[in-house]
Amino acid sequence: MSSKPTILVTGGLGFIGSHTLVELMQAGYPVVAVDNLSNSHAGVADKVRDIVAAFYTARDGDASATPRLDFFELDILDEDGLASIFAHYALPYCRGQARSRIGGVIHFAALKAVSESISKPLSYYRTNITGLVNVLDAMDAANVKTLLYSSSATVYGSLTTAGQAQESLCRHRADAPAAPASPDLSKGLQGCAGITNPYGRTKWMGEAILQDVCASDPAWDITALRYFNPVGAHASGAIGEDPLDVPNNLMPCIIRVLDGRKSELQVYGTDYETADGTCIRDFIHVVDLARGHLAAIAKATERHPVVPGSSLPMQALQEALGSLPADLSPASSEHGHSSESSPSTDDGHFLSQSVSTSSLSDEHTPSSDSTSLTSPSTPASSRFEASAPVSPGKAAQPNDLRIFNLGTGAGVSVMEMVSAMREASGLPLPIVAAARRPGDVVISIADPIKAQQELDWKATKTLQDVCADTWHFLQTHACS
Ligand SMILES: NC(=O)c1ccc[n+]([C@@H]2O[C@H](COP(=O)([O-])OP(=O)(O)OC[C@H]3O[C@@H](n4cnc5c(N)ncnc54)[C@H](O)[C@@H]3O)[C@@H](O)[C@H]2O)c1
Repeated sequence: MSSKPTILVTGGLGFIGSHTLVELMQAGYPVVAVDNLSNSHAGVADKVRDIVAAFYTARDGDASATPRLDFFELDILDEDGLASIFAHYALPYCRGQARSRIGGVIHFAALKAVSESISKPLSYYRTNITGLVNVLDAMDAANVKTLLYSSSATVYGSLTTAGQAQESLCRHRADAPAAPASPDLSKGLQGCAGITNPYGRTKWMGEAILQDVCASDPAWDITALRYFNPVGAHASGAIGEDPLDVPNNLMPCIIRVLDGRKSELQVYGTDYETADGTCIRDFIHVVDLARGHLAAIAKATERHPVVPGSSLPMQALQEALGSLPADLSPASSEHGHSSESSPSTDDGHFLSQSVSTSSLSDEHTPSSDSTSLTSPSTPASSRFEASAPVSPGKAAQPNDLRIFNLGTGAGVSVMEMVSAMREASGLPLPIVAAARRPGDVVISIADPIKAQQELDWKATKTLQDVCADTWHFLQTHACS
């Protein structure tokens, strides 16, 4: 049995989510994937299981060490359904504190097409903002306070044109200067200056909400990861970017030309002030990006070591009990963990199901012998006030949202990417010059130093890896 906490991944069957599931499971984390399949397929869960089982078989000679992957088909707008999933993984209360086998959440589920966000802004605010608040509410009720949030380089708006974007260009702390015209950008800006579309604004607002939540309660440990341009696919060819919707990003558009669904690639803007006239982006291999999440989760776990099998931080438990009882000490964790009821299926390994509120509701309710229960039905308004009181006389530590760029730090133009994909595929990949797209920034490149220094993470894959893996995925996919 794994000693790592279970990680719940919303949007887990999507492009970045599925690659992150693989990296988490290969590192020993059991995972719970939640997805409404609006832009993914249920079959992705089995592909992830196959990749990970092959990894453990190659390593150990058999797949018995493969961590669990439980999949729930659920919309994050379904608050009761979310609460039911957390209830499913609840452990008995300890001295009035909710405990969960879920140790942290990675929140990918969102709508992400920039152009669609302009025509359907309310859908974007509903899914990306209300959905985020629902996830936070469900986490809070279950006392799960560690979250990684999928943010985006779009929060920098057009500020990236000046060069590599540092995290400080867009901050949410109240002491950041508010005037966008501040000449000293190194001090950062408060406010979403230059964001050109509703999608980008949902990402900025999401970060702002998370900063407020962090400030409200020091128990929250929240990290926003600002992705630049994720591309590529898993080296197995089994999973990659396969959007059901009309693609907006460069690589899915290239794929549609290479697989014959489109006759030519439209290159939006060939007269920018760049060497070849096309926009420049920081393309990051999706496996590197997934490993960035692994690094961030590992750091959060280091900051808040949890009682194995529980979301309850060791420190909180010690404070609650005065001293740690022997049966909850790390050395006896396997015993404590295996005694819990488990939602496993007949094969004892994987579980996949659709959620209805009634199907899960009372299955694993907290024990009722506790004196001061905080039930999952606690009103949202009271939940943030309830936890982690600061001891009298002890100064409260500021609890800020942690923010990291995940990018390579190198720029590649649209035409350079087209050339690299022509080389990898051996196909002509016809292009046609089109007008600039409203909202596109000319240059968007990460300054990745902070993630290197604080997360011990660095992108290692090359543009050739990106193109070879994308082409392999396309060929495997076309034949499957
Ligand atoms: N791909 C990019 O270029 C990029 C760049 C920056 C940030 N991001 C962010 O990363 C995250 C993941 O992006 P991706 O490229 O993997 O997208 P994706 O569409 O492949 O994955 C998102 C997943 O969330 C699911 N989903 C959508 N709405 C949902 C809902 N209401 N309830 C439950 N599930 C829902 C979809 O079915 C999909 O499987 C998103 O938050 C996106 O905004 C992506």
